[in-house]
Amino acid sequence: MKTAELRRQFIGFFAEKGHKVVESSSLVPHDPTLLFTAAGMVQFKDIFWGRVKPDFKRATSYQKCFRTTDIENVGKTAYHHTFFEMLGNFSFGDYFKEGAIELAWEFVTGELGIPPERLWASVYEEDDEAYSIWRDIAGLPPERIVRLGKGHNWWGPVGDSGPCGPDSELHYDTGEKNACGPDCKGLTCDCDRFTEFWNLVFMQYEAKKGGGLTLLNAKNIDTGMGLERMAAILQGARTNFDIDLFEPIIDAISAAVNGEISGERIAFRNMIADHIRGAVFLLADGVIPGNERQGYVPVSYTHLTLP
Ligand code: ALA
Repeated sequence: MKTAELRRQFIGFFAEKGHKVVESSSLVPHDPTLLFTAAGMVQFKDIFWGRVKPDFKRATSYQKCFRTTDIENVGKTAYHHTFFEMLGNFSFGDYFKEGAIELAWEFVTGELGIPPERLWASVYEEDDEAYSIWRDIAGLPPERIVRLGKGHNWWGPVGDSGPCGPDSELHYDTGEKNACGPDCKGLTCDCDRFTEFWNLVFMQYEAKKGGGLTLLNAKNIDTGMGLERMAAILQGARTNFDIDLFEPIIDAISAAVNGEISGERIAFRNMIADHIRGAVFLLADGVIPGNERQGYVPVSYTHLTLP
């Protein structure tokens, strides 16, 4: 399936399920506390924070995102990007864990036709509810539902206070043969066996300044599926850089150096492809190279040596 078709199918599925289709917002958010739009929920932050009452209870979007947290991994791994698109469905005080998991399961196994036996879910270690929904409603066998700690399955708050909660991630298993070895750490390993492709955030708490959690009045859902990651799964691509969306960029880079790029140089080619895409989308949203704010992202490439 072409990436454009996946994007259309996702939005169409959730529109049919009563979600308002909201256009992507700019990569530069109207929020002085954030440098870039790094997730689909950014444009809904005031709704999640309870500052604005929306006139819709469900939304879906394909949000252009820019993340600098993983910049030093770009090119080194199969799936890290600075610029990427996040497909999301959101519930503002409407459906919660059960609805979010049911919708995700229906979309992935029903609409996209991914074999259920390839799917694993991770849940926050104390979230018995999410665990039971994956087991009893989605029908995932217990050995493919993994409980992980706060470092993996907890989202937020953004900053030192605000909405947050446990999350649950869906992972695609490319097969045991792709594991890094007998000591593979499974879902938490960076090797090629598992691809984490969808994060479902159950925003049910408010983190208070100075510590402590209280239950939110309205429980919300925020989800994010990596468009490029899912496209790679559907296209059987070895890395995100091998999907149709990257083909023209990769071809242009190869043409610029008069030929096929192989071996260790592929990491550099992929890094260039990522950064070109990011730079173009940033420029389109009015970011000009400079020495402050969005114009300047410090990064050290000293870990890479040109072969
Ligand atoms: N906001 C969640 C994330 O970025 C969906 O993973």
